[in-house]
Order: sequence, then structure tokens, then C-alpha cells
Amino acid sequence: MIEQAKPSPVDSLISVLGGNPFTTFPYRERQSDLQGWMDARSILFTAIERLRPELIVEVGTWKGASTVAMAQHMDKLSVPGRIVCVDTWLGGVEHMLGNEENGNWLNLRWGWPHLYEQFLANVMYAGVAARIVPVPQTSHIAARLLGHLGLRPSLIYLDASHDFMDVAIDLQLHWVLLAPGGILVGDDYTIHWPGVIAAAKRHGRDQRLPMLACRGQYVFAKGDNPLADLCTPANLTCWDPLAERDVPIPKVA
Ligand SMILES: C[S@@+](CC[C@H](N)C(=O)[O-])C[C@H]1O[C@@H](n2cnc3c(N)ncnc32)[C@H](O)[C@@H]1O
Repeated sequence: MIEQAKPSPVDSLISVLGGNPFTTFPYRERQSDLQGWMDARSILFTAIERLRPELIVEVGTWKGASTVAMAQHMDKLSVPGRIVCVDTWLGGVEHMLGNEENGNWLNLRWGWPHLYEQFLANVMYAGVAARIVPVPQTSHIAARLLGHLGLRPSLIYLDASHDFMDVAIDLQLHWVLLAPGGILVGDDYTIHWPGVIAAAKRHGRDQRLPMLACRGQYVFAKGDNPLADLCTPANLTCWDPLAERDVPIPKVA
């Protein structure tokens, strides 16, 4: 009898999600719209160069600007990895409050946001669909699901809710998932997001890790930190995006 090869954790995930959505999605019914917040100088690009990750988990994807930028960087470096994208594709509090002034960027119809379809289309227009596995779920449930299926990413990028309690739990759940030697990069370690700063500092304290950051992104490593030379200690300072420099952490965080 010929033995069937065991499916990889990523293949099991795709199967749990009902198959690969890119095979049938009619992306040409939409235009590409990669509005997002990815900074071309993000430390994520160096993380990809130095780690050459087989698996990245992105938590907080929106329309896929950061996903596409990472995937294209992997293409450029011939890194063969996959990116699992976790998002509810419903937006956060700040996206809902800013929906009207941003021309209905959630694409609300009958009260329901339609970001997911835009994300799928963007990934397909960018030609990187073969790398991407979307997981439309809350970050907390997704982290448990990925853990259950045995996914162990060596790079995790956290950019979902910026509320203190959500980030604190995201950090706890995703720290368990991170492979030994892996790196977790979190977004918005800035004067505008005291909840992110407070949660990241708490994680550093709990796990006895140095608090490092680079241009408003904090970095934790499970082992030696291969990005330490690019980071600065962040226990007392955080990024001011307007001034483009580190400033003292405001008292509230
Ligand atoms: C700041 S946006 C991500 C931006 C994207 N990384 C970029 O650079 O363009 C945050 C995203 O997190 C998602 N989000 C917020 N809270 C979430 C949660 N608890 N679980 C999953 N996704 C969440 C929102 O739907 C939103 O798409």
C-alpha cells in the first residue's frame, strides 16, 4: 500500500478554510486599491532578508498593502515562504469612526464592510496570490487555530487592534506560536498609540525581554535578536511619526 504524505500545517489550514479562495475569485470585477499604512523603510524588510522565513503570520492586513510589500520583497530575494494573513476584514474602532471622512473606505453595504474582496483582488493584481493564505477570523481565535494545526512562523507581524487589552492578548497568544529563533514585529509603537506601548512594555517585562524598537515598530526575538543592531532601547522613548524621531514616552502609556 502506498502511504499518503501527511499534509503540511499550511495545507491543513487551507483545507479547514474550505480551499484556496484565489482559484475562483473574480478579481477583475474590481480595480486594485492598495491604500494602507506600510512604510517602505519598515524593519520588516530587513527581517525578511535576515531570517528568510518559510512562514510569516501577519495579524492585521486591511487591504493588503503590507502583505503585498512583504510578498514582493520575498520574490525579489527568492525567499520561497508563505504569508498567512489574519484579519476580520471588518476594521477597527478608528476605521469605523473615520469611515465617512475617508470616503467609505470600509466599503460598507447594508452595514457590512467589504474589505476582504478588495484584499483578495489586490493580492491577485500584484501577482503574489500563490504565497498568501487569508484567515478571516479574529486574531485571538486565529492564533488558537494556527497553534492547533501546528503552524510555527519564524516572523510574526502584529498590526491588528491597537487597544491595550487586545494587543496584550495578541502578544501572549502569538508569542506561543513564534518558532524558536523567530522574531515578532509590532506596529505603531508611537506617541499616538499608548495602548500599544503599554502592552508591548508589559510583554517585555513578563517575558524578561529587552524593549527594542525601530521607527515606530517594536521587535521581540525568541533567542538572539538579529535586528538588534538596527533597533534602539524603547523602555523610555517611542516614535513620533511627524517629527520622525524618538521622543520620551508620554505619561499616559
Ligand atoms: C491598521 S490595519 C492593518 C494595516 C495593514 N497592516 C497595512 O499596513 O496596510 C488593522 C487591521 O486589523 C484588523 N483588526 C482589528 N482588530 C482585529 C482583531 N481583533 N482580529 C483580527 N483583525 C483585527 C482590522 O480589520 C484592520 O484591517
